Amino acid sequence: MENKKPRLVISTGAGMSAESGISTFRDAGGLWENHDVMEVASADGFARNPALVHQFYNARRHDLLKANPNQGHIALKDLEKYFDVYIITQNVDDLHERAGSSKVLHLHGELMKVRAIEDPDKIYTLDEEHLDTTPDSTDSEGNHLRPHIVFFQEAVPNIERAIEWANMADIFVVIGTSLVVYPAASLLHFVRPGVPVFYIDPNPAAVDSNVKVIRKGASEGVAELTDILLKNLQTR
Ligand code: APR
Repeated sequence: MENKKPRLVISTGAGMSAESGISTFRDAGGLWENHDVMEVASADGFARNPALVHQFYNARRHDLLKANPNQGHIALKDLEKYFDVYIITQNVDDLHERAGSSKVLHLHGELMKVRAIEDPDKIYTLDEEHLDTTPDSTDSEGNHLRPHIVFFQEAVPNIERAIEWANMADIFVVIGTSLVVYPAASLLHFVRPGVPVFYIDPNPAAVDSNVKVIRKGASEGVAELTDILLKNLQTR
C-alpha cells in the first residue's frame, strides 16, 4: 500500500500572479491605485454604479487572457508528484488551474465566471469570445448577470472549507499576500501546532517567528521551497 502523500496546503495571494504580469493590489502602482477599491469591488459600489464595476472586471478579463501561468504556478503543480497539494487562493484569476493544479479553492471568486443575481446558484463560465458583460446582460431565463466575485462587504462562502484544509495540513505555505484582508489572512491560525509553515514573499508582512520566511518572488521562492521539502521527504 503506497504510503499516503503528506498534505501540502498552500495559500496564495496576488503576488503569486505578479510574475505573470497581473498587478497586485497594494504594491506601488498596484491595481487599486488606478481605481477606488470601494467603487469597483464593494457591494455598495456595485449598487451605486454597476456599469463601472462590469467595465472594471471586463478589463481584468482581457488582461487575464494575455497572461500565462508563471514558473511558480507550474512548480506548485509539479509538487503534486510528491505531495497531496491543496491550493487556497485569494486570486480570481485561473492561472493555478491553467498550470494544471488539481485542487484549487477560490476565496474571493473567479474572474472568468458570472452568476445570475436572481438565482445565485446559476454560475456561468465566460468564453474568450464573450468576455464582456454590462448591467443589462442576462442568461437564457432573463436573470441579470454579475461578476462571480466576492466584493468587499460580502460573505466569503468558501472560508469554512479553507479552514478545514488549513487544519488538515502537514505542511502549510503562504505565497504572495500582504496578509491584510480577512478572513483569508486568518488561515495561518488554523494550522495545527508543530506543522511547518513557510511564507514566500519578497516584501513579507510581519509573521510569527516560527514561520520560515523565504524573501523571494514566487518563481524563485517555490523552487527554493521545493528543494527544502524534497530534502525533508528523504529524511522522513
Ligand atoms: N512573488 C511573490 N509575492 C510578490 C511578488 C512576487 N513576484 N510581487 C509582490 N509580491 C507580494 C507583495 O510583497 C505583497 O505582500 O504580494 C503581496 C501582494 O499583496 P496585495 O496586493 O495586498 O494582494 P493580496 O494580499 O492578495 O490582497 C488580498 O485584497 O483587494 C483584495 O480581494 C483582493 O484578494 C485580494 C485581497
